[in-house]
Parts: sequence; structure tokens; C-alpha cells
Amino acid sequence: MQICARAHPNIALIKYWGKSDLSTNLPSAGSLSVTLDGFTTDTTVAKAASDELLLNGEPGGAQADRVFRWLDACLTHRPPLHIDTRNNFPTAAGLASSASGFAALALAVDALLELGMSKAELSVLARRGSGSAARSIFGGFVQLKLGQDSDSTTAAPLLDAARWPLEVVIAVTQAGPKETSSGEGMERSRLTSPLYQAWTECVPGDLEKARDAIERRDFGALAEVSEASFLAMHAVMISSRPGLLYMKPASLRCVERVRELRREGLAAFCTMDAGPQVKIICLPEAADDVEAALRETPGVVELHRVGLGPGAHLVTA
Ligand code: DP6
Repeated sequence: MQICARAHPNIALIKYWGKSDLSTNLPSAGSLSVTLDGFTTDTTVAKAASDELLLNGEPGGAQADRVFRWLDACLTHRPPLHIDTRNNFPTAAGLASSASGFAALALAVDALLELGMSKAELSVLARRGSGSAARSIFGGFVQLKLGQDSDSTTAAPLLDAARWPLEVVIAVTQAGPKETSSGEGMERSRLTSPLYQAWTECVPGDLEKARDAIERRDFGALAEVSEASFLAMHAVMISSRPGLLYMKPASLRCVERVRELRREGLAAFCTMDAGPQVKIICLPEAADDVEAALRETPGVVELHRVGLGPGAHLVTA
């Protein structure tokens, strides 16, 4: 028997950057995201004679080691597994494929081994693989809340995609792998950034503001707090020692251009993660103008456009 699960990447509006416990991959603060449609990870699992992971048809290498270490830590007495995982989105898009990857895999393994996990338990399982993956279990607007411990720190849905169908334009400014992985970068920030403590303390207030903006469908308020969260995270990154400069000149040009468009009345704002690509969240009526403006922005090498999508689900192979 084999099981196939599909999950979509998500983009955080209120960012996760830092862990309080490495052994359970426990984040030091909550976060809030939107799950995308269009981009998918499809993961097929089956029991096998020995562990094997194929990533886009190739042996998984270091990614495979990370995945099997995670499964061993979370599931006792599991059988060896054959895992085939494929992303339909370009790695150059700078989308955290670990989010959709661990979410799809958590769901597929749960179904294959008939573990009967709830969505919340699946989210915890995915989170232990990659913090952002906890959120890709759910669709639309999603919040990860800190609990009392690892098992109670889980994501939960806030609002379905259809109830506020925003669009996301992704401006790729530089292809190629990222310089420092998120996991390594956030640990460096925790240990060395003089801003780290202040950063974790400001997340709960930002979460509150974002939740309120989503509830009221107040795009301006969501733009303000989301932009503040991404810029604060980059301040923490830059102030780490040595500094993490994920923001490149072309990224900054995109951020400034979108701010200009917003001042002119377009409903759009930027966010960025641990890489040079810029993600622009817009109301649907603003997306064409945002795309056109970014096409003209020097340093943008590729543009993608997607909507908001569903959580992880099983698919019949
Ligand atoms: C900047 O979820 O990739 O994208 O838990 O170490 O796998 P690990 O980190 P990861 O970090 C994501 C960081 C971010 C912000 C976010 O998605 O919230």
C-alpha cells in the first residue's frame, strides 16, 4: 500500500525567528501565515525494506538524514519507509519547501501507519520537523500559538482562504540556494543578536494586531503590522554576529517600490524570509499593477503569482 499527501507552502505575515528548545524544535514565539495555492508538494510513502527518500526524483542526501532523524525522534517502532516527494514550484522562488514538505509527510505517514492523529497532533508532528510546517497543515490564514510545552504548541486555522482571497506576487531577485539556512540563522540570532530578546517580546502584540486586522478584513492594518514584523525580523538577522544579510539591493528596491505603490493607494505590502526574494501580499484588484511595477524593477529576474489555498490533504494516487 502507498499513500500520497499534498501540502502547500505558506508565507508568514507575523514571523517565526528563534527557538526555545532545539530537541523538540519549539519556537520561542507564535507566528501567523497564509497558505498558498498553486505551489504544491506531493509526497508518497510506502513501507519498504530500508529507509529511502527521493526529492524531485533524486536521492535526498542531507534532507533525507534530517527527515529520518525527525521520524525516529517522533515515532517509536516505525517501519522503514520509502518516501518520494516532489515540489511543482521552482526552488529559485525562495519558498520554504520544508514547510509543505514536512506537512505533506506528516499527513502521509499518519495515514500509512494508521496513527489516527488529529489535525492539531499532525501540526505538532510537522512542527518538530520544521517550525513553519506546522502552519501548512491548515489552509487560509493560520496562527501558531505557543502552548505549555511541545505537544501543545500547535497551529490552528483562523480564516478560510475563500473568506478573504488575497493574492501573492513573488519577486525572485536571485536564484540559487540560500546562504545560511533558517535553522542555523535563527540560532545565531538567538545567541548573538542584541535585539533578540526585544524581538521575541514584540511578537505577541503583533499577533494580536494581525488577528484583529484579519477579523475585520482591514487590509491597511494587516499591511502595517506585517511589514513591521518582517522588518523587525530582518533587523534581528542583520544585528546577529556575524550579520545575516538576506536582504539584497534588489530586494530593497522591491520593498521601496511597493511602499510607493501603497502610498499611491494600491492595497499591497511586502514580506521577506531568510532569502532575497520578496513576497507581495495584495488585494486581488491590486495584483496586476503590482506585477507590472515589479516587472520594471531592476534586479527582478522572475515573477510568480498565486492565491491562498487549502491545508494538507490526502490525494488518490
Ligand atoms: C523566516 O520553519 O524553515 O521563514 O524550524 O528550523 O525548519 P526550522 O525553520 P523554518 O523557519 C522559517 C523562518 C521564516 C519565517 C516563518 O516562516 O515564520
